Amino acid sequence: MAATKPPRGPLPPGSTIGILGSGQLARMLIMSAARLGFKFHIYADAPGPACDLTPLKTIAPYDDTAALTAFAASVDAVTFEFENVPEATAKTLAQHVVVRPNARAFAIAQDRLAEKLFVQKLGIAVAPFVKVVKAADIAKGLATFKAPAILKTCRLGYDGKGQARVAPGDDVAAAWRAIGAVPAVLEKKLAFRQELSVIIARASGGAVQVYDIPQNSHAGGILRRSIVPAPLDAATISRAQDIAEAIAEALDYVGVLAVELFDLGTSVPLNERLLVNEIAPRVHNSGHWTIDACGCDQFENQIRAVADWPLGSAERHSDAEMINLIGEDARAWRDLAADPDCIVHLYGKRDIREGRKMGHATRLFPKGTRG
Ligand SMILES: Nc1ncnc2c1ncn2[C@@H]1O[C@H](COP(=O)(O)OP(=O)(O)O)[C@@H](O)[C@H]1O
Ligand SMILES: [Mg+2]
Repeated sequence: MAATKPPRGPLPPGSTIGILGSGQLARMLIMSAARLGFKFHIYADAPGPACDLTPLKTIAPYDDTAALTAFAASVDAVTFEFENVPEATAKTLAQHVVVRPNARAFAIAQDRLAEKLFVQKLGIAVAPFVKVVKAADIAKGLATFKAPAILKTCRLGYDGKGQARVAPGDDVAAAWRAIGAVPAVLEKKLAFRQELSVIIARASGGAVQVYDIPQNSHAGGILRRSIVPAPLDAATISRAQDIAEAIAEALDYVGVLAVELFDLGTSVPLNERLLVNEIAPRVHNSGHWTIDACGCDQFENQIRAVADWPLGSAERHSDAEMINLIGEDARAWRDLAADPDCIVHLYGKRDIREGRKMGHATRLFPKGTRG
């Protein structure tokens, strides 16, 4: 068995970082942090757009212990581009190599119920919810808070998948069947003023860098647009940052963490105004603007944290608007590329499919002119 290799101090340039997952987030991690002199080894159960950027890759199932062990032995640290890594996979890797963020962060973020209970324990508000293990629990929940509500599977949901809306008078059994009759939470559907996210980088010694807060709009459960800065007063910004810091610290988190928030607006007292929707233990789509608007983007800071380097400044030099290119949107690549004010990012995915994230486009504005 290979020896565990905890990094002693910062990993030197030329070290190899292992990334689980081969999608666009892994691709952007490689693009940003390659300039620090790191090499990257992808481990994924299927090839994806990150594989174009490195010769080092292992395509094997996430429960292939031999492949995981060989991968762990060939890299100097391991991180992830997605949160649904099986717990056993992270544990196997952690026997051989430093793995960041830690297994607890994943265990909590993988399970919506555990996530909500964890956040509440920190004294931070979440939307009214009940635990659902059978159809009758949905009716019980609707007796405590009225429909409309959203039924969400505890595990494996993303981009609005694994969710069913429950309108007043709807058949609760149909909603239960729609999500596959698996453990879930029923959440009150909120009439929020806006959606926000706090993207925070935390180093192993506890130092943090917090990016400015974008306002995020979703369509069909998928992020459509992020605008930074979100229109917020200083007290609310500081409350949002405190929430993210408290979560990162309680998890002893190392890396980049995104906290999605619902903002109920100024008519609500500050300590109840911001509700945590979910935690993503990874770089986040609502932070893609950092590539073009910050000296050190979320991807570079993730790798800096993983490699025990000092974090880069999260300071923003411009206001920004990021639009996701989803499915057919990507056909406009020629026009976007011809627009001198548009910074185009394409993920190298050949097949356009409905709901598939194909790329994004960022526009910058002089700082202080938006939001
Ligand atoms: N309780 C809620 N009230 C109103 N809108 C919600 C609620 N929960 C989720 N949504 C909307 O659906 C989007 C996706 O839901 P989310 O829980 O973040 O799941 P995921 O991002 O994992 O698909 C949210 O960003 C928000 O726009
Ligand atoms: Mg979400």
